[in-house]
Amino acid sequence: MPERQSGQVRRISVVGAGHVGLVTAACFAELGHEVVCLDIDEERINQIRSGVLPFHEPGLPELVQKHIGKTLWFTTDHDTAIRNAEFVFLAVATPTTALGTADLRFVRSAARAVARATNGRRPILVSKSTAPVGITETLESILSAEANGSGPLTVVANPEFLQEGTAVRDFMEPDRVVIGSADIEARAAVGELYEPLKRPVLYTDIKTAEMVKYASNAFLATKISFINEIAEICEKVGADVRDVARGMGLDPRIGSAFLQAGIGFGGSCLPKDVRALSHLAAIYGSHPQLLNTVLEINAEQRRRLITRLRHVLGTLRGAKIAVFGLAFKPGTDDTRDSPAFDVIRLLEYEEATIRAYDPFAMEETKRFFPDIEYASDAYEAAAGCDAVILATEWQEFKDLDMRHLRSVMRRPVLIDGRNAWDGDEATNAGFLYFGMGVPDMASAQAEEITA
Ligand code: UGA
Repeated sequence: MPERQSGQVRRISVVGAGHVGLVTAACFAELGHEVVCLDIDEERINQIRSGVLPFHEPGLPELVQKHIGKTLWFTTDHDTAIRNAEFVFLAVATPTTALGTADLRFVRSAARAVARATNGRRPILVSKSTAPVGITETLESILSAEANGSGPLTVVANPEFLQEGTAVRDFMEPDRVVIGSADIEARAAVGELYEPLKRPVLYTDIKTAEMVKYASNAFLATKISFINEIAEICEKVGADVRDVARGMGLDPRIGSAFLQAGIGFGGSCLPKDVRALSHLAAIYGSHPQLLNTVLEINAEQRRRLITRLRHVLGTLRGAKIAVFGLAFKPGTDDTRDSPAFDVIRLLEYEEATIRAYDPFAMEETKRFFPDIEYASDAYEAAAGCDAVILATEWQEFKDLDMRHLRSVMRRPVLIDGRNAWDGDEATNAGFLYFGMGVPDMASAQAEEITA
């Protein structure tokens, strides 16, 4: 066990150079610790060593650049990474299986490899990967069974609450740090690593810490699906969901965050974690009705948008549609579970022709949709199109010149899947504008366009 003195430089290993792993490694280096980050993907490690990060995350390249080779090292070799570590953070992916369960193969094999490399030492293993409640205890038994002469190892659950796009800030200024373990000393040692941040630390048992993570993501997803259901009602009764959300958000018991109506949530976390929690509940004999409805509403948001567009254009077969935004949200090049991808799939199903543009996520999208057209800016994407769908609210889309946009299009239809545009401005520029849960200024004129 490491000695527990505050302010001491610790030797930390981080397993996994993905979003969470890389941010964790760079931020612990920034806090003054000696950090080795390990990934089994040699190409990824070589890229990072040469200064190219595998994803877009503001502030991260600067941190890596500042500490690499001094207090931050990258390796593919377990012995090098684990040999001297006092803490080993596990930050490997837990994707979803076809059944909706979390795929734990990477976590298990990473834990085994770490255990074999311990070589008689007893680092504290800290699990950051989001995995079903109970997995941290499973890891404890895997590690203890495979540990190389070190005896039982302690595992601590320390879920992450990083948002892509603000992950560095979220790490350095967390709302809370949650640390779960039955071993009071081990969890206090992990707590000390975060002490310089001067933020609330919640100590719990392992399962509770794991549950805090799932419940937090599920609640955020629930807020989004809630406001999306309200948006649909707003559309029907002629109210404006944006002001409804503002009015609700002013109540501190509700809060204004995550009340942005639109085509729903995507990304590598919210959809996956709600599915996994729902599955977990079901196998324990519960009926997670609310969680299932949250997912259902989310899927429905994409369909609603396409149904509306079909209604406006008469048919989508042969229509030329521009999709603005491919990343699952602005500020990232991540397209995992992106709502834009669902929109593209639905448009393909309806036999529309698609031209897409995103400031950051084009390369990734081309791997999934090699056959659609791509443009090098928004105006080029919209040229000759029958409609534009806004799927990701990048600032550059908000800044577009509406009149110019109108002038390049064949038919003037804007479907604002993120309520990012000013409907009046769009209408004044000659568009039929449709937001999500905003009064339908365009319905009356829409008849003309189908004619
Ligand atoms: C999410 C959580 O917000 C983090 O706290 C958590 O640590 C992370 O998952 C994780 O588990 O690692 P992230 O996946 O980066 O973070 O994405 P969010 O910012 O939460 O956005 C998720 C989706 O919800 C996006 O598609 C976004 O466009 C959508 N969204 C968000 C809305 O549709 N409406 C809103 O009001 C807010």
